Amino acid sequence: MAVQISPSVLSADFARLADEAAAVAATADWLHVDVMDNHFVPNLTLGLPVVESLLKHATLPLDCHLMITDPDRWAPAYAEAGARNVTIHAEAVRAPVRTLRAIRAAGARAGLALNPGTPVEHVTDLLPEIDMLLLMTVEPGFGGQAFLDLVLPKIRAARELVKGRDLDLWIQVDGGVAAETVERCAEAGADVFVAGSAVYGADDPAAAVQGLRQQAMAATASSWWGRP
Ligand code: DX5
Ligand code: ZN
Repeated sequence: MAVQISPSVLSADFARLADEAAAVAATADWLHVDVMDNHFVPNLTLGLPVVESLLKHATLPLDCHLMITDPDRWAPAYAEAGARNVTIHAEAVRAPVRTLRAIRAAGARAGLALNPGTPVEHVTDLLPEIDMLLLMTVEPGFGGQAFLDLVLPKIRAARELVKGRDLDLWIQVDGGVAAETVERCAEAGADVFVAGSAVYGADDPAAAVQGLRQQAMAATASSWWGRP
């Protein structure tokens, strides 16, 4: 079972994004970019122009997480710009099938995110349309929040669905993922791990990525779903 780590630049120095991307390039799988519009979430970060600039400098594929009220309008443009994954929120999208297909048609992987209070049953019919299900383990909007254990049963339920239907899709967790919580996520069924403060708050971000990866791999290997 492959474990992937996606450091979130939300906790990086925004004035030195290219350097911060380079700091994890040798050990991470993705670079997670949080797009916030101060409407879907009470915070404002960056948008398409910054993503376009970052694409010119970052060697890792970009994992764009759109926390915006109008993903139908904006998501395909991130894929067209070159983001390798574009994730939209189920709570915000109005025409999910059309928008997810537009992301894929533009050459990116399509992700669908659920806030902690949104049940996975809400999107069961959409699972064949996506490449990754993002289960938020905090309320979206800010880095450095405490991990919500109440999401763990949902991670497990999602993994059961994926296994039961033999779907080819990744399960990502985002929010409060750190040395203290990554094993619980992996045991429950997650395979892609976003970490902001646990990576960019560390003295050595590249080593922090490796540490999380080792913990997640060991926990997956002995888990109910990942045991060989
Ligand atoms: C929060 C963002 C996260 C954030 C996670 O809404 O979606 O990607 O960067 O930060 P940590 O890992 O510090 O909780
Ligand atoms: Zn995120």
